[in-house]
Amino acid sequence: MSPEQVALVRDSVRAMGPRMDAVADEFYRRVFARDPSLRAMFAGDLVTQRRKFADELQAIVTAIPDIGAFLDRARLLGARHSGYGVRTGHYRQFRDLLLETFAAELGDAWTEELAVAWHRAYDMVAEAMMMGVPRSTGASFFTR
Ligand code: HEM
Repeated sequence: MSPEQVALVRDSVRAMGPRMDAVADEFYRRVFARDPSLRAMFAGDLVTQRRKFADELQAIVTAIPDIGAFLDRARLLGARHSGYGVRTGHYRQFRDLLLETFAAELGDAWTEELAVAWHRAYDMVAEAMMMGVPRSTGASFFTR
């Protein structure tokens, strides 16, 4: 990611900040509408989960410039996700729906440049998360 792309993502996170709860709500609505079988994976309280997801996403994309801290955080998160039963294909599903949600939320502010920047940021996060998965189950977007 270029420094400009990192800044674009960071600025959009700030812009959505006050509405992030509603954005996360809409995101999970889309996730379960597209693939109702995923609902059973979320055993805990969804309101809390939405907040955790939004907080973590904001923290992790903001940490991208500090690559060491970013990788440590993402690998640990990815290792936990492996335990939740999350696999490579799920990350792709989440990416497409997350970007669709942001596009709907931001309207005209969702430019082509911002879409490309978010695509890269999400792939970095997902790749780093998958690096935290024990080798036998680990996978990559780019090697499949
Ligand atoms: C950018 C990618 C993602 C981020 C930032 C993220 C963030 C989080 C966070 C912060 C939690 C709370 C527990 C913890 O910290 O370990 C969590 C739980 C969880 N996530 Fe994710 N997640 C991501 C991708 C995914 C994907 C692709 C799936 C696939 C379905 C998924 C499924 C789950 C499940 C099943 C739980 C446990 C829910 C429960 O216990 O009720 N996540 N996620």
